[in-house]
Amino acid sequence: MAIQYRENSIAIGGGAWGDEGKGKFTDYFASQSHQEGKDVLVYRVNGGANAGHTLEFEGKRISLHQIPCGVFIKDAKVVLGGGMVIHPDDLLTEIKMVEEASSGQPPSTIIIDNMAAFALDTHRAYEDVLKKEIDSGSSGGTGRGIAPAYADIVNRREVRMRDLIAGDWDKIARHYQFYSRQINGLGFDMGKMKVAYLNDQNDTRPVGNEKEFIDRLKNAREKLLPLTSDVYKFIKDSWVDPKTSFIFEMAQAVGLDYRYGVRPDVTASDTTFASITASTQGLVDYRDIKRRISTLKATYCSSVGSRKLPSRMEPQLEARIREDAKEYGATTKRSRDIIYFDLPALRFYQRVGGANEIGLTHMDIVYPETPIKICIDYQIDGKSVPYRPDQEWLNKITPVYEELPTWDGTRTNLAQKFRNLPQEAKDYIHRLEAELHCPVTLIGNGPRREQVIEI
Ligand code: IMP
Repeated sequence: MAIQYRENSIAIGGGAWGDEGKGKFTDYFASQSHQEGKDVLVYRVNGGANAGHTLEFEGKRISLHQIPCGVFIKDAKVVLGGGMVIHPDDLLTEIKMVEEASSGQPPSTIIIDNMAAFALDTHRAYEDVLKKEIDSGSSGGTGRGIAPAYADIVNRREVRMRDLIAGDWDKIARHYQFYSRQINGLGFDMGKMKVAYLNDQNDTRPVGNEKEFIDRLKNAREKLLPLTSDVYKFIKDSWVDPKTSFIFEMAQAVGLDYRYGVRPDVTASDTTFASITASTQGLVDYRDIKRRISTLKATYCSSVGSRKLPSRMEPQLEARIREDAKEYGATTKRSRDIIYFDLPALRFYQRVGGANEIGLTHMDIVYPETPIKICIDYQIDGKSVPYRPDQEWLNKITPVYEELPTWDGTRTNLAQKFRNLPQEAKDYIHRLEAELHCPVTLIGNGPRREQVIEI
């Protein structure tokens, strides 16, 4: 029986360890759908302020964290989905940044699902305490309280946007007290602990006492009230409306998934396409989405955190790529590790992630005198072994590499069609398709929105 996909539906996710350039593709599809006269709906699925999507358009460079990438598309509706964990204060700052970048009013409508849970300063403080624990996977975290926020959901004690909107200050006060007691019990004074907040300088500020904490949320409530609603019916109706073009924006990547990533330095959300089904409360079966695009950097991977990947590059080439491709975290400004294109790990992520297409970015990061080296196998004691989602296992791995011919990066920048790419680049893409058992359908060949080749 032929699969009945929902037309005009696309999901974009990360196929490696994050920062693959997903935002560029989301922005590209949103802008293309708008030009085709469709109603554009961009739905952010998971994660929170740990994400950083850098967009370049009209000469501006802006990093989005919680707001979906379609926010600068005229008349688009951008939804912060129920699977997210939201920091209301940071969200307000981000909305202000978006307003400034669009000279006042954003051209789109921002909608927050009232089922989205909170990732508050309490969670950030608690994560900081966890970071100090030996053997904690939190040591590589972004400090945005993501794991404690999702742990609240698993512990069945989450506070949601709808509690803020209802002004349930008792519940929020109990939340504060609960974290304060836990953190005090572990030897810290939560009110005095400094946590990250969204600002250019990476500054921190104290959580404050209960009143200060609640006052900040009261202020946020005023401004977020008009944007927050029960989106269930809206999503249900839009999904069956053929005029609506659906774009699902995933955050992080399969290599950071809490089950499949390099444990213990993983994020806490489900980063596979299956999480779309959960975030929409079962309204959208992710298998009905026509294009599920896993994004990868074409010639290398990057990773930021404490995980140690077996195929990390030697320092000289790593430093060169880091500078050329601006490989610094959009959220934490940390420098990213540069990893050889790692087939054993990426093949695994491709298999469990649920993608049916691949989009490649950074095709121009190649050097004329340096062959492209890819990791083709993992070995232990001379025997071929698979990737497993476990740092201790990966510590034992010896990578096996193969060198492939490089190409002229300036030519890929200029190419507007697949056929205009250098032959070596075309051969390389075909090799990746065969290795990853998935077609490459999209190439990002430069930072600007329009620099995308559809194959
Ligand atoms: P958390 O999501 O802040 O808990 O961080 C867990 C791990 O995922 C850390 O190693 C982070 O550096 C990494 N991480 C989280 N979000 C991103 C992202 O958007 N890009 C790259 N790495 C990320």
